[in-house]
This record gives sequence, C-alpha cells and structure tokens, in this order.
Amino acid sequence: MRSHYCGEINQSLIDQEITLCGWVNRRRDHGGVIFIDLRDRSGLAQVVADPDSEEAFAIADSVRNEFVLRVNGLLRLRPEGTENPELPTGRVELLVREIEILNSSETPPFQQDEDDVNEALRLRYRYLDLRRPSMQKNLTMRHAITRSLRHFLDNEGFIEVETPVLTRSTPEGARDYLVPSRTHEGQFFALPQSPQLFKQLLMMSGYDRYYQIARCFRDEDLRADRQPEFTQLDMELSFTDEESVMGLVEPMVRQLFKEVVKVELPDPFPRITYADAMARFGSDRPDLRIPLELVDLTDLMVGVEFKVFSGPANRPDGRIAALPLPGGNSLTRQQIDRYTEFAQSLGAKGLAYIKINDLSLGREGLQSPVLKFLPDEVITQILERTAVKTGDLLFFGADDADLVNAVLGALRERLGEESGLIEEGWRPLWVVDFPLVEWDKENRRWQALHHPFTAPHPDDLENLESNAGDVRSRAYDLVINGSELGGGSIRIHDTTLQSRVFRMLGIGESEATEKFGFLLEALRYGAPPHGGIAFGLDRIAAMMTGCDSIRDVIAFPKTQKASCLLTDAPGEVDQPQLRELGIRLRKPPVKEAPSEE
Ligand code: AMO
Ligand code: AMP
Repeated sequence: MRSHYCGEINQSLIDQEITLCGWVNRRRDHGGVIFIDLRDRSGLAQVVADPDSEEAFAIADSVRNEFVLRVNGLLRLRPEGTENPELPTGRVELLVREIEILNSSETPPFQQDEDDVNEALRLRYRYLDLRRPSMQKNLTMRHAITRSLRHFLDNEGFIEVETPVLTRSTPEGARDYLVPSRTHEGQFFALPQSPQLFKQLLMMSGYDRYYQIARCFRDEDLRADRQPEFTQLDMELSFTDEESVMGLVEPMVRQLFKEVVKVELPDPFPRITYADAMARFGSDRPDLRIPLELVDLTDLMVGVEFKVFSGPANRPDGRIAALPLPGGNSLTRQQIDRYTEFAQSLGAKGLAYIKINDLSLGREGLQSPVLKFLPDEVITQILERTAVKTGDLLFFGADDADLVNAVLGALRERLGEESGLIEEGWRPLWVVDFPLVEWDKENRRWQALHHPFTAPHPDDLENLESNAGDVRSRAYDLVINGSELGGGSIRIHDTTLQSRVFRMLGIGESEATEKFGFLLEALRYGAPPHGGIAFGLDRIAAMMTGCDSIRDVIAFPKTQKASCLLTDAPGEVDQPQLRELGIRLRKPPVKEAPSEE
C-alpha cells in the first residue's frame, strides 16, 4: 500500500513518486492550501494539497484528526523559509496527487501532541495513547532491551524455557492471585509471583543456563515502580557461585546500556555489604548519585544527659546518626519544619539539627535546639566526625536503628532532590551479604528476606538456630540510581539444610510438604549446586527511557488500584459461571465509580 514510512522521506527522494499511509496528526488550512501532518510509527511527514488537483483538495479539506489516509504524490523541497529543522523530514513535503481515506475517526478525547493528558484518560483510551510518539519510543526501546538481553544470553549458551502460569503459590512475600479450578471444585491455582521453584527444578533436570522473559503476578500495594503483573528476566545456572553469577550478568547489563542508550557503565560495578549500605545510606538500595552520607554517632551519646540521644544509645538496637547537608545553613525555618514533618510521617519522634554558622567560633558559632543538651567534648567530636564546614547543616536521627535508617535514608533522597545535589549519570552497585532473615514483629517470627530457598552463608551456619538474625545469606541485589533492578542468590541444594531453614522460619514439616513437597523431593534426586537472579524488566525499561513510572513502559498496565481502565477488568462474572466453579459470593459485588486515581 505504501512506498515509504512517513519518517523516511528526505532530500534524496526529491521528485520521486511516493505513497504514504498514516494518521492525520494535524490539518492546517493556510488560505487555499491545506497542510496535513501525516503520522505513522516512524515519524511525521508534511503533505500539501493545493486546489490544482481538485479531487484531492476536496478530500484533504474533509479530513479530521486521526483519519487514516493513503496519499500519493511527488516529493519536493519545502519553499525556503518554511523548513522545520526540528523534524527529520522537515526539509521536504509531499505534494499530493491522490488521497484515499482508509478510515475516518471520531474526535479523539485528547490530541496526540498534547503533553499533560490526565493519566486516567490515557489509560481509558490506551490504544490512542499508544499512538503517541513518546509511547511508541518507550515500547520500541523496551523491545530493543529484550532483544539485547536475549542476544547476550543466547551467545552465552542459555536456553529459554517457559514455566506454568497456572500453578501453586511461589513465596516472594506478596499475596497470591488465585484462579478457581472448575475441574477440582473448591481448589485454586495461584499465579506465580516468580518462576523461582520451576527454575530450580529445571536445574535439577539438567537445564543448566536457563532463562525466561517471565510474567509474574503479585497482589501487593502498588506504586510507581510496582505493578500487579510485571515482567522479569529470570535466569538460573548450575555449578555456580556468587562470583560467577555476578560476573556473568555484569557484562550483560553493560552491553545492554551500551547498545540501547550508548552509555558505558563502570567495570567492575562497585559492591557494598548490606550492613555498610544501611550504615552509610540508610537504605539497601542507595542512590549513589546523591553525595550525602550518614555518620554514626551512637557511641558518643551513651553518657549525654539528653534522653532523646542517650536512650537509643544505650539500647542494643538503637542508633544515633547525623546527616550532614553541605550549604544547608541556608534552609529556612519553614523548610526545616517541613523536613521534620516528613521525618515524623515516617515514624520519627523529631528531627534535631545543628546549623554551622561559623565553625571557627566553636559552640558560639552553632545554632540548634539541642545544643544546650550536649557537652563541649561531644560537640567537638560531632563536628570532627561529620567534617562539616561553615555554612553546613546537620540533621540527627535517634531511635531504633531500623527507624533511623528508614528516616535518614528517605531524607537523604529528598534532600538530594530538593537541594539539586543529584549527579548526572548511571551508578550501578551490587549489594551483598544480606541478612538471611528479618524479624516479623507482627507475627513474632523470622521471615526470609528474599525467599526461603536462599542459601545461608557457610561461615554463619552454626548460628542458624541460635542467632538467626546474624546469619548472612548468599544473596545479591543489583541497584542502579537507587532502584532495585534485580536480585538473586545461590540456593540451598541440600535437603537437610533446606529442612533446617524451613524449621527456623517456623514452617513445619507438614506445611513444608504441603507447599513445597515436590521441591524437597526433587532435592533428594541429585540436585546440583545452583543459583540465579531475576531482573525487573519494566524497571529497567523505565530507567532507560527516563520514565518516572513503569506504567509508561507497559503497553496495557493496571492503575494504582490494580484495575484496567481500558477493559474495565476485573469484572463481574455471571451466576452460572460461578456455580460451575462452586463459588458463592459472600456479598453482592459493589459497582465502583468508573473514575479512579
Ligand atoms: P525479587 O522478588 O527481588 O526476586 O524480584 C526480582 C525483580 O523483579 C522486580 N519486581 C517488580 N517489578 C515490578 N512490579 C513489581 N511488583 C515487582 N516486584 C519485583 C524488581 C526485582 O528486583 N525469584 C527471585 C529472583 C531470584 O532469586 O532469582 C525474585 O523474584 O526489579
Ligand atoms: P524535644 O526534647 O522533644 O523538644 O526535642 C528536642 C529536639 O530534638 C527537637 O528539635 C526535636 O525535633 C528533636 N528530636 C526529638 N526526638 C528526636 C529523635 N528521636 N531523633 C532526632 N531528633 C529528635
């Protein structure tokens, strides 16, 4: 139907006969001459209809935005002074001979070149939204990303294997999406939170070097970087260890950035232990572009009279830390109040601070509501340890270490943004030596930090029962610019150790058998040592396209409330269908108002 894509026409084709197909982006009537910007996925072309070709002119006059056209004519240079240097096709235009309307369009609810369209409207008319050049760019880049990854893995001898979507619960810490079974009334499939168990089984079956672009489902609170269904690049290797896995995926990520966004990432990626990351950045996914670090002061505060500081300093899990902000002296009272409210919204009891008005004046040169509670020698040490200069400001957090880290870690990110401190570029980082478990206060038990198949660090095994909180795992996360792009671990391949870990997690033998009996059984039939990793493909795509939300790199995403505004899913089902599944609703479904968010 066409000879070229709209975005392909240029000076080399002058005086040639060209046929284009596409959508009317804009139509302009310039007193007797009609200009149409014709759009397809490759770009825009200017089409000109003048009254000399009467029939074509009449049709051009009748078209409206988003009509679908086929136009034929001769390509010519735009008259001098009318070129558009912003457009790749901006030096040429197609003088029409024939126009065919392939389809008309109702008036669209938003313009293709409008910038601030409400997201709910975009999602409701996603098929129109996806026509927009920015969305076409995003999805095209996403394709380039998967192509690069597949290519790399193919060269490294990986094979892609598909694993089931109708399956049993795979524990990754979120709620399951359930699917009722018609053939087994009263029973349910769970959609996989990840292919974790199947990829481990594949290692036991000898499919060393497996990968999959896998859809995962997690019913959890949604944010800009979380969707209820999302895509992982999932990988698993046999006869491997941490070094081999990291050593393999690092070049994959470097090649990806080089091919797709022409960025050279550092070689090697730096590494940090979980403990150091928490101590220095208050986060296990630190954004290294922000040049701010926490400074620990716990030991200095043990003897001070100020209970706010000495209290936590004398508790085993307490922490006092400072966050120095260079130039922070210029913050106004209102700004500090806003940061204090922010800290309180995260659970802090307050946010003490010291302004360094003049470092040379000692105590006299400082300004702070807590100054009077601190003896000279402590102040001297604080100033020394934080290495502040005149004009800086120190924020303080004092509480349980978890809370201090969460508050100062979040404050660090916010200060980085609001003080314009975030540096340019891409800062990858491996976080290693995670704790194996964390204490679940609500249920008063240990909970796997990653998943219960992660191998404990061999040096810490003796503490597994006595002091589980101190046991490190063989897990690793890849973080870039503060976003966790991927995580994985070396797995337990020994059935005795797996049972020990289940016991420590309070998963009894019958529960273990009921939930993962097939895995425990498979471990007894010659399971090789194995490990792997999974990357959040949507997060990688959002980062590389520069989108704030992963919704902008998913063709048909869900809203914050986990619904689809386009198809109106989830939807009701009729009574016979429910009866067939043996399901009776406890309450009649409530019809929600259609507008969300
Ligand atoms: P994990 O749970 O860390 O590991 O997930 C791996 C990566 O998937 C991405 N991710 C998400 N992306 C979008 N929306 C979500 N709701 C979401 N949840 C996670 C993140 C994350 O780093 N089976 C293990 C991997 C392994 O051990 O090999 C797993 O799923 O980028
Ligand atoms: P208060 O003694 O409660 O009036 O607090 C004195 C100062 O210490 C105020 O600036 C508070 O914001 C701050 N502050 C109180 N509790 C904490 C805390 N847990 N961590 C950091 N600063 C705090």
